[in-house]
Amino acid sequence: MKKIRIAIQKSGRLNEDSLQILKDCGISVDNGKDQLKASSRNFPLEVFYLRNGDIPQYLRDGVVDIAIIGENVLIEKGNDISIVERLGFSKCKVSLAIPKSVKYKSVQDFQGKRIATSYPNTVEKYLETKGVKAELHIINGSVEIAPNIGLADAICDIVSSGSTLFKNNLKEVEVMLTSEAVLAVSPKITPENKDLLEKIRFRIQSVLLARQ
Ligand code: PRP
Ligand code: MG
Repeated sequence: MKKIRIAIQKSGRLNEDSLQILKDCGISVDNGKDQLKASSRNFPLEVFYLRNGDIPQYLRDGVVDIAIIGENVLIEKGNDISIVERLGFSKCKVSLAIPKSVKYKSVQDFQGKRIATSYPNTVEKYLETKGVKAELHIINGSVEIAPNIGLADAICDIVSSGSTLFKNNLKEVEVMLTSEAVLAVSPKITPENKDLLEKIRFRIQSVLLARQ
């Protein structure tokens, strides 16, 4: 039997909640600590455990049919990929932050400043709408350290509890977007797998209703 292929985050904040929602949908899969691929025992579904940032490209190429992913990642790297369900977990913001000690007036303050970020497209678009031009330094993790080591004047990253900003003596000054986990679909999904997707969506909708 044909299986639908779903990508979920290999490790990190979305991993556990993504597996949990599948479980609540009655789809059991092993967690992917040691393997990159797992099959469900009771639903025609294969799980691929992938790096967040790689998931949009896998969807685009049709290597996976669907994915549970942070909307923020799609906004950054997968504007062309459709979202079919909002999942209500992994809520966060993507924000600009500066050192606590620096006075802030408006977004114009970012003019000509160096911003460290893993979200260059998101920042660039945001600043463009405000008529601000900044210098971006792309880093893949631990972005909040950049101002402390003199690499940047500001950062743009995910803010969830705010504790990473706090620990690094930074303050949030602009919220560029809010995000949550979503179910995204490959433009190349086959009609057969679309039927499986509809079954999963139906179950997800019931789970989300019950969670309210
Ligand atoms: C993420 C993100 C922020 C932090 C936000 O980093 O990049 O740094 O979480 O969460 P908070 O507001 O609750 O502190 P993560 O710990 O996943 O590591 P990474 O940046 O090295 O990928
Ligand atoms: Mg971080």
